[in-house]
Amino acid sequence: MIVVGVQCASRALEKEEVMGKLAITGGDAVRTSPWPSWPIRGKREEELLLAVCRSGDWAAANRPMEAAFSEKFAAFSRAKYTVCLMNGTVALQLALEALDIGAGDEVIVPGYTWQATAAACLDVNAIPVVVDVDPETYCIDPALVEAAITPRTRAIIPVHLYCCMADMDAIRTIADEHGLRVVEDCAQSHGSRWRDLGAGAIGDIGAFSMQHSKVLTSGEGGAVITNDDNLYERLCALRHCGRPREGEKSPIQSGNYRMSEFQAAVLLAQLDRLEEQVDRRDENATYLNRRLAEIPGINPMKRHPQITRQSYFSFVFRYDPTAFGDAPRSAFTQALSAEIGLSPWIIFQPLSHARLYNPQTKRRHRWSEEYWRAIDPARFDLPVCERAYRAECVAFHHPFLLGTHDDMDDFADGVRKIHENAVELRGLE
Ligand SMILES: Cc1ncc(COP(=O)(O)O)c(C=O)c1O
Repeated sequence: MIVVGVQCASRALEKEEVMGKLAITGGDAVRTSPWPSWPIRGKREEELLLAVCRSGDWAAANRPMEAAFSEKFAAFSRAKYTVCLMNGTVALQLALEALDIGAGDEVIVPGYTWQATAAACLDVNAIPVVVDVDPETYCIDPALVEAAITPRTRAIIPVHLYCCMADMDAIRTIADEHGLRVVEDCAQSHGSRWRDLGAGAIGDIGAFSMQHSKVLTSGEGGAVITNDDNLYERLCALRHCGRPREGEKSPIQSGNYRMSEFQAAVLLAQLDRLEEQVDRRDENATYLNRRLAEIPGINPMKRHPQITRQSYFSFVFRYDPTAFGDAPRSAFTQALSAEIGLSPWIIFQPLSHARLYNPQTKRRHRWSEEYWRAIDPARFDLPVCERAYRAECVAFHHPFLLGTHDDMDDFADGVRKIHENAVELRGLE
């Protein structure tokens, strides 16, 4: 190593600082060429959007684009029905309402997820009971689900998080034994398959988000899928101000949770590419995981053998600082970003203290003192979530997985180079 006074890629070096082999200490980066960007879009989106615009048929409630998308997404997800909705948050809320889950019911959710999983329970006056996750998948731990069941428990919401699926055999068994409902939160798992069953079609209802960052997107959007005829009828009514889909049935109380034809048009175009994209990400991630597994201190996530296809919302692995001279994760991710030109992706805060999960800031939730106390997130102890959040979990957003094996090699070479030169991480925070 030599001593110079220069600016390096990721931080200003002080006058007399060391220039080393790593890009972050002034060396050459492994990669400087760009990665695939998101969302991928083309002529098909433009044509379908123009068609909606010209038709004047803009609102959706079984209009042509929405009907076509619903049918195709159900087939893609191996479910009988799709109901399109405004977003993934509403998808979870209406799933719980369709299952008649309400005041004082307990719903078991994982502590490592986006806040909407628990917030949807609050929105139906249920109590989110937050349990820790499996250290190898960051998905809900079935043993802890079983331990959290009380006479008030009505449902479980497993989240298929980042690049893993929850253990759906164990969850189904527990649910069947205790007479519980299962809502799969598939906001991050479009196209995953468990023994060839589609994610979302294994539980009673699957809830999806089509928000901008997701692998299937219309900017904002959501949907639920189900195989159950009665639940389908209820979901259709719930999203459409309570109107029964057809026939003589009485309306139920609800609001407007519909999607517009513009969103459905974009989804229809995006869906044409999804099958190939999910396959490509799975193939590249499998290759990359194989390469990363050879590097000390890098632990790929566990893939349950029942998974026949894994969808990747994010590529995640677990970082062990002891193999990198005790450098903190942030030093490693900064070094990796400098090396390969990819920024790290969102690490969830445990729900026990997540910045955007604040049940006790809304007076609507104070309908009883008992409920108010029950929804206090601080009462849950989540050591695995805590470790993932504070030190271990490293995540990258999915678009880079649409590259080639050479691109995956750049990623793995960057990690290996950091491992080989870990001494240079010293002093980085
Ligand atoms: C696991 C999970 N559940 C639910 C949602 C909510 O979806 P939306 O943002 O479409 O409301 C998200 C969105 O990021 C999510 O990641």
